[in-house]
Amino acid sequence: MGDNKIIAVVGATGAQGGGLVRAILRDAGAGFSARALTRNPLSRRAVALAAAGATAVAADLDDAASVRAAFDGADAAFCVTFFWADLSPEKEIAQARTMADAARDCGVQHVVWSTLEDTRLWVPLGDDRIPTLMGRFKVPHFDAKGEADRLFLERAVPTTFLLTSFYWDNFIEFGMGPKRGRDGVAEITFPMGNAKLPGIAAEDIGACAYAIFKARDAFLGKRIGIAGEHLTGVDMAAGLSRALGEEIRYRAVSPADYRRLPLVGAAELANMFQFKRDFQALFCGTRSVTQSRILNPSLHTFERWLAENRLRLHIT
Ligand SMILES: NC(=O)c1ccc[n+]([C@@H]2O[C@H](COP(=O)([O-])OP(=O)(O)OC[C@H]3O[C@@H](n4cnc5c(N)ncnc54)[C@H](OP(=O)(O)O)[C@@H]3O)[C@@H](O)[C@H]2O)c1
Repeated sequence: MGDNKIIAVVGATGAQGGGLVRAILRDAGAGFSARALTRNPLSRRAVALAAAGATAVAADLDDAASVRAAFDGADAAFCVTFFWADLSPEKEIAQARTMADAARDCGVQHVVWSTLEDTRLWVPLGDDRIPTLMGRFKVPHFDAKGEADRLFLERAVPTTFLLTSFYWDNFIEFGMGPKRGRDGVAEITFPMGNAKLPGIAAEDIGACAYAIFKARDAFLGKRIGIAGEHLTGVDMAAGLSRALGEEIRYRAVSPADYRRLPLVGAAELANMFQFKRDFQALFCGTRSVTQSRILNPSLHTFERWLAENRLRLHIT
């Protein structure tokens, strides 16, 4: 244990970081320990991680000294930001800077940065195909992460850039589950037409990240996209129909109609799905399912994720 390499995990009580902590703990004896960063080491989730074998330490991304203290002595760090906590891309960039500074100052030898595409590289601000939001973004939570990539590069932090995918868990926890239409038939709604959406079980992200930490040298400086499957709206509706035992329809709407849905961040999400639709080849091409399964051989298919989560899925 004393000679183990320490991986400091930001967001350890959340989806991505939590999956990573559990992957490290499952692989006891492989030479890695989990240092779980949380704002509250006494919370139920943090205490559960500590009971399972992680070291819970207090750190807040809005407090640079706490992040530096939490990265001190760590061999590696998993870095993620939390757009949906404040809906602020500028805050994500500031928090990424805090982590990059801490990783450099503490000499962390490997960072896995959970990032996404800066969509403005494909849809510049002057391009009206996708409306500009918050003055300087197309898809704020994508663009902010992509913009923050350079913060790790400029500080020469040894980094792997992990491009994640849509969590299937959004069907449970993010208000995207099936909703009953006016005719009584339940439906899922996306502005994606027939395009394929790379998706993943959120828990699998951490397991993929862990494999990257274990094979550090092969992944330094690389951009690695991950997904469990690439599925159309029709595919996902068919899977949900089988899991829930009733017909779930796919309702394909325009991005403009999606923007008007009563969803937190509807405009942001409409732009995100439009980008994924309009740049399907790029977006899917960056997220190889085969490569993801090599990283994480127990990667969930949508069907298996549905089987395991059937009782948590609801029609509203
Ligand atoms: N939903 C999707 O489909 C999807 C897909 C790809 C990427 N993403 C991205 O994933 C990111 C979120 O990751 P996640 O889903 O793993 O998050 P999450 O499950 O919401 O977990 C957030 C955790 O982060 C911690 N946290 C929040 N604010 C913090 C702060 N200021 N300092 C330190 N810790 C803080 C909290 O832990 P404590 O309360 O214990 O401190 C919380 O448990 C977002 O930026 C989103 O854009 C989401």
